Amino acid sequence: MNAKTREQVSGMQTAGQAVRRAFDAMVAQTRPGVTTAELDAVGARVLAEQGAVSAPQMYYNFPGATCISVNHEAAHGIPGERVLRDGDMINIDVSANVHGFVADMGQSFVIGQGAPEQQRICASVREAVHNAIRKVRSGRSLNVIGRAVQAVADREGYQIVRNLGSHGVGDSIHEEPSYTPYDNPDEQRKLKRGMVLTIEPFFSTGTEWVEEEDDGWTLSVPPGQLVAQYEHTLIVTDRGALVVTQ
Ligand code: CO
Ligand code: CO
Repeated sequence: MNAKTREQVSGMQTAGQAVRRAFDAMVAQTRPGVTTAELDAVGARVLAEQGAVSAPQMYYNFPGATCISVNHEAAHGIPGERVLRDGDMINIDVSANVHGFVADMGQSFVIGQGAPEQQRICASVREAVHNAIRKVRSGRSLNVIGRAVQAVADREGYQIVRNLGSHGVGDSIHEEPSYTPYDNPDEQRKLKRGMVLTIEPFFSTGTEWVEEEDDGWTLSVPPGQLVAQYEHTLIVTDRGALVVTQ
């Protein structure tokens, strides 16, 4: 989407708030003993209360209102009867269409205390996104995002997953510009005023490629490796990024 009018900006902010509220409600219910289907039901209810339609269901016929990926699963995990345990790493990703405006956010976090390495990868990918957000401004290269993300990945010794993209969003769930947030000197595209996009790197402890599981949806790194994502939706302005999923 190219969000230039006040109505478009406020429509994106409303959509961003809706997915944020659903996400927060799901996080609040995340604890050992809960199933991912139960968490998904919380997200589905909060989205419905706000007139929001799950984007994965609407655009991809995904078998869940939200994506919940656990441990070595990176993305597009299907909510189900899996019981969460202390020390699991979980990624909750919520995207929805609210009166024609689509926003998308996600975060990985650890249930309970977890291991220091789990905490570190989650904190690192979060830091990478926040650093990248501060570089966003109209007229700059799209690669300012990848460069900021890569700096944190390199410093912390993580791989950036190459086959999971960040993307334009707003009119639909996946639009141009589609890009992978790593430092790509060949990137020619520029950030333009009004551009609506996500920043959502996936950091891993050893692989640049996720593979699809037999369920036809879940994308995973090899068992035993760690993977973490962090995602916001933002609007590019002349003064910086307006994050709508904050
Ligand atoms: Co996304
Ligand atoms: Co997402």
